Amino acid sequence: MIPCKPNGRRLLQLLFFFLVFSVLNNVSAQDGKTLFMSKCAACHQVMKDGTGPALMNLEERGKWSDHNEILKWTQNPSAYMANDPYTQGLKTKFGSLMQSFPDITIKEIDAIVSYVNQAVADSKKAPPPGETTGAKTSNNALIFGVISLILAIIALILMQVNSNLKKMSDDAEGIVRPDPVPFYKNKVYIAMLSVLLFVVGGYYVTKGAIGLGRQKDYQPVQPIYYSHKVHAGINQINCLFCHGSAWESKTAGIPSVNVCMNCHKAITTYEKGPKLYTENGDEINANNEIAKLFKAAGFDPKNPTKWDPAQAKPVEWVKIHNLPDHVYFNHSQHVKTGKVQCQSCHGEITAMDEVKQFAELSMGWCINCHRNTKVDFNYSNNTGNKFYSIYEKFHNDIKAGKMDSVTVKDIGGLECQKCHY
Ligand code: HEC
Ligand code: HEC
Ligand code: HEC
Ligand code: HEC
Ligand code: HEC
Ligand code: HEC
Repeated sequence: MIPCKPNGRRLLQLLFFFLVFSVLNNVSAQDGKTLFMSKCAACHQVMKDGTGPALMNLEERGKWSDHNEILKWTQNPSAYMANDPYTQGLKTKFGSLMQSFPDITIKEIDAIVSYVNQAVADSKKAPPPGETTGAKTSNNALIFGVISLILAIIALILMQVNSNLKKMSDDAEGIVRPDPVPFYKNKVYIAMLSVLLFVVGGYYVTKGAIGLGRQKDYQPVQPIYYSHKVHAGINQINCLFCHGSAWESKTAGIPSVNVCMNCHKAITTYEKGPKLYTENGDEINANNEIAKLFKAAGFDPKNPTKWDPAQAKPVEWVKIHNLPDHVYFNHSQHVKTGKVQCQSCHGEITAMDEVKQFAELSMGWCINCHRNTKVDFNYSNNTGNKFYSIYEKFHNDIKAGKMDSVTVKDIGGLECQKCHY
């Protein structure tokens, strides 16, 4: 006769792998997003053209249905373009040449493309913009959960049938055995179930706990409807005009009313720009918003020529980006020394009316960028960072061909105490 126990056990094992797989699967979909955000999002959006073309429906354009072609292009755009009229055309349209990523791998390309495809699918499904993230993954988790539950029930039924059959055949043959241990008292099953619950439960609890306090896409309503699109986008005011301390200090800072009034003493009404709307689609009366600014600067709203500095009070902007207290982040280190664009971390601010938090600000986000970003090391022609001239070893290794570039990781960007107090 076929032994009965292993059958049920195999089912349980299957169930176990299924759950583990579902967890791993989620992680890899997440990877594509992380890669896209850290490497491509500075220039590409999924649905809209930016510095580079929108990447939606990518596989239907050029030779991109073959991911190896995307790989070749991404590794070295200028070489690829040399004998490819399609990308030459893109360059003419978009003006600038795409950045090269010589170290990118086919796996990473696959992950990025699948993230893009997923983002397109998500946007078709979810109606309100800004709330699309996570919908798909939680959907997946639900489906996996339901399937797992069904499998578990089938496993239990099969085990029950199995033991009944065995009992019947034993009865028929007149064999008297001690009563079989019911499955819910069977120590092996109980042990396996506990391990399973521990692993799965532990994973979700840890993940949830680490994510506490993160607020990607946070977009509070500000006391004055101040549009970055109008100022930094349409009127091309340099970020550093208002956030100048990003260049020389740890914080980027929020400008005081005085900075605003440098211009707004002359600009008292909003006339040239496009109509402005809140997230909910309500139209903004921009002149009222400018009036709020005047009030904050100490002007009498009823009589704008009357100015009393004693009435001035700072605007209470709501802070959007907040790292936990145990993390040290320095703007000048990134903006001035590292030459990282504001947009790499804050997204296309010039296209946002109201600022929203673009990056997750998780530790993985910092670390991934440090793993991948090359340090400008070329101090011989004075474009690079002279500080690194002491790193003779890297210099010699590069000369000897032992390495071809230096990432932030190599200069200590993954060391705990660099980011943690
Ligand atoms: C510094 C800006 C920049 C970055 C970063 C960047 N790209 Fe591009 N990308 C461009 C530009 C600009 C073009 C248009 C071609 C050109 O002008 O070189 C382009 C074109 C493309 C195209 C062809 C699109 C089409 O319409 O057929 C693909 C595919 C692509 N990029 C993929 C990527 C991927 C993947 C990444 C991230 C690993 C990335 N790009 C990062 C600027 C960038
Ligand atoms: C004319 C002044 C001005 C200019 C120019 C400007 N900003 Fe701002 N920025 C502000 C003000 C005021 C706030 C606070 C209100 C808000 O969050 O919208 C702010 C907020 C921000 C925030 C969110 C800060 C937080 O609370 O976490 C970021 C990020 C930011 N700006 C980035 C940029 C970038 C990048 C540019 C250039 C593309 C830029 N700003 C140009 C005035 C300016
Ligand atoms: C390497 C990523 C990165 C770059 C590049 C970057 N920022 Fe930030 N920015 C952050 C982080 C992280 C915070 C949150 C800091 C905190 O909570 O201590 C932040 C916070 C801010 C704030 C809120 C006020 C503050 O200082 O905490 C403003 C405004 C801001 N950034 C503007 C800018 C501007 C303008 C640039 C370009 C000149 C820029 N950032 C470049 C990551 C970056
Ligand atoms: C470098 C000049 C300059 C500075 C500095 C500046 N603005 Fe403006 N602001 C403009 C211009 C230009 C317009 C658009 C006028 C138009 O289109 O008719 C504008 C429009 C506005 C508007 C109406 C559109 C909107 O965004 O809602 C508000 C409100 C406003 N500014 C507030 C501020 C505040 C608050 C500050 C300081 C944080 C500030 N501005 C700093 C030049 C400036
Ligand atoms: C978009 C890419 C990017 C992101 C995101 C990023 N960094 Fe960096 N970081 C850099 C670069 C580039 C440098 C190297 C600057 C230089 O040339 O010294 C750097 C350097 C540093 C250093 C100094 C390392 C050393 O050994 O001198 C610290 C500390 C640091 N980053 C902290 C952070 C923290 C904390 C975060 C997340 C909140 C973060 N970074 C996110 C690109 C990034
Ligand atoms: C490049 C910067 C950076 C480096 C290097 C770094 N961390 Fe972090 N770490 C962060 C940031 C940012 C957070 C906050 C993440 C959040 O708010 O969710 C964090 C959070 C944490 C937390 C809290 C749990 C969590 O993930 O939020 C622990 C524990 C931690 N780090 C340990 C370490 C250890 C150990 C190392 C060295 C192996 C290290 N960190 C290196 C940036 C860094």
